[in-house]
Amino acid sequence: MAVRYVAETKTFILETKHSSYVMAVSRYGNLLHMYYGARIPDTDLDYLLTFQDRGFSPNPNEAGNDRTFSLDFLPQEFSTSRNGDYRNPSVELIWGEGGAAFSGRVAGYEVRPGAERIDGMPALWAASGEKVDTLEITLEDPVSQAEVKLAYVVFEEKDVIARSVKLVNRGQKELRLERLMSATVDFRTSDYDLIYFTGRHAMERELRRIPVWDGVHSIGSGRGASSHQYNPFAIICEKECGEDQGECWGFSLVYSGNFIIEAEKDQYKQLRVHAGINPQNFSFLLEPGEEFQAPQAVLAWSGTGLTGLSHIYHRIFRENLCRSPYRKKSRPILLNSWEAAYFDFDDEKILHIASEAADMGVELFVLDDGWFGKRDNDSAGLGDWTVNRDKIKIGIGRMSRKIHEMGMQFGLWIEPEMVSEDSELYRRHPDWCLREPGRPAVRGRYQLVLDLSRRDVCDYLISTMNGLLEKAEIEYVKWDMNRSIAEAWSALLDEKRQGEVLHRYMLGLYYVMDQVILKHPEIIFCGCSGGGGRFDPAMLYYQPQIWCSDNTDAVNRLKIQYGTSFAYPISSMEAHVSVCPNHITGRSVPFSTRGITAMDGMFGYELDPTKLTPEEKEMCREQIRFYKKYYKTIMDGDYYRLSSPYENQYFTAWQHVSQDQKKSLVSIVVTDKEGNDAQRFLKLRGLKEDAFYRIEGWRGKYSGKILMNAGIPVPFELGEYEGIQLGLKMI
Ligand code: GLA
Repeated sequence: MAVRYVAETKTFILETKHSSYVMAVSRYGNLLHMYYGARIPDTDLDYLLTFQDRGFSPNPNEAGNDRTFSLDFLPQEFSTSRNGDYRNPSVELIWGEGGAAFSGRVAGYEVRPGAERIDGMPALWAASGEKVDTLEITLEDPVSQAEVKLAYVVFEEKDVIARSVKLVNRGQKELRLERLMSATVDFRTSDYDLIYFTGRHAMERELRRIPVWDGVHSIGSGRGASSHQYNPFAIICEKECGEDQGECWGFSLVYSGNFIIEAEKDQYKQLRVHAGINPQNFSFLLEPGEEFQAPQAVLAWSGTGLTGLSHIYHRIFRENLCRSPYRKKSRPILLNSWEAAYFDFDDEKILHIASEAADMGVELFVLDDGWFGKRDNDSAGLGDWTVNRDKIKIGIGRMSRKIHEMGMQFGLWIEPEMVSEDSELYRRHPDWCLREPGRPAVRGRYQLVLDLSRRDVCDYLISTMNGLLEKAEIEYVKWDMNRSIAEAWSALLDEKRQGEVLHRYMLGLYYVMDQVILKHPEIIFCGCSGGGGRFDPAMLYYQPQIWCSDNTDAVNRLKIQYGTSFAYPISSMEAHVSVCPNHITGRSVPFSTRGITAMDGMFGYELDPTKLTPEEKEMCREQIRFYKKYYKTIMDGDYYRLSSPYENQYFTAWQHVSQDQKKSLVSIVVTDKEGNDAQRFLKLRGLKEDAFYRIEGWRGKYSGKILMNAGIPVPFELGEYEGIQLGLKMI
């Protein structure tokens, strides 16, 4: 059993293959966090708690005159405010007469097999027969009558513990929740680094590694989406932790809305980490008997460095997150019309592009923005999901048939959550968008946000989207969301419930996705929010892949995809070859390098094939052939970051290794070149030490050991922005 309770020591032990997570009940019933790290045999970790009389660290009343017991320094599993702990709390609430303390004591626990669904929100699920157990611990507070249920889903084989929290109002009066963290982990010391991923539109998930420092370092989003600016994933690691050594802990939130991840180093040099819904612009009113469910946080520990941690997340997100059968099925190579035509097309132009794409070996043609309503530019049409007959005279049904006749599948772009003021939908329902009372709405890319906290709006979207998907034969849908949400007020909600709007928006969105995406398992859905502005596990629950960034510059993509790879599997990142000079950065990079970078993901094209030279078209055919040859290794293999674009100015390299270690693909892109340069070497990883490999196009055979210890010479002749792919095969 992955979950144990040891009654003598009042200790809860969660065990995965390589890690242990231990909690214990204090002498006054508080739930203390004892340990999270390498798997241990111990059942009593009491010796790790030290008790001192510390100035200005108050003592709970039940401790009597014992000045050594203070919640100000004890490591807690679910910390609360107004009881002498001054670190940021897991919960903040106001109940009954305005009291705000919550003093939860362990009142019981239950262990159940499997992983349960979380109300209204995506969460990890267990495959049938998989060794997964759930522990639920109940904390009761007789005064506030708030009851807290802490859930721990233990994926034993996969080294993952997924946590979530539910708060129930058991009292007779209203309770207002102001903060509820999904996971809190207290560390006894703080000699760690914090790694997080930051960015902006067209430059997402840049890696930052900083020492944990006194005070609170908080990352998060207040934009109504998980955001380009910060990803809901962070790592705490030992100072000496690298790709293949050292301890590290991952925190990933399965949520697509406003979130925070906080790392707080306290006065006693301890560290507290929180992950949950951002308390800014959030409050939730619970009437007697009502409950609030916080999203799930996926925790993992690795003792073998950052690669080990990434492998844990890649595996669980590949196998236990996405609902689509396409999580395992092979996905077609696509060409997307956006950078080929933007809004400037008609059916003839699109069919011309499509037939050239088919000639290149493309398997799926995606018609991006501009095909519906009066959508000639981005100022109109969102909300009117019927074909623009001025542009697509033959209609979507016939367009789809013609694409199929070319031997390709057909995909469409939609942006269901938005409305243009210049649209039929807005003229009919101006009250359907988010705005502040008495003020005109804030525009973003000229568009307004539909109020998905309203059930009527969600139901309208469900019937409109399902109607659209049923009308034409569509195998792929790109679901976009192209602005940050600014307002948090809904016309239908009561005054005292306005703090709920942004979370209710997310619940509404998940409800719509449940009813549209999960009802069409035959369609591949691709997530998008101006590229990677909503690249999070909750979106990956619905969509097996997400457009990684609007930035298709192959050199910038080295950083974007590198950062993304820490938590997210390669099978989730959509990456395309586009033209040069790049439309966003103006940089020119060889065609082959653009292919190499885009093959580090779900591969495709984002260009007008009618404008390619015959040589370029031939290169596309070759790229498609090559990608297909390594498709399984890329999609399901283990991923190794060989050389970081942040630390190595000269080249970036990565490696895909098949699960059986028989096949591997090494990719290198040169990012800087000096005259009469040094010969650089690259150590490979993930191979079988005592097996021998052949490198495609090279003479000789080499042991895994030599390739991983001495490495391979990076081909000297590669110039700046040139790259190479090396296929390895075990013999
Ligand atoms: C977003 C997407 C792009 C494209 C445009 C269309 O920016 O990220 O790929 O679909 O919208 O408007």
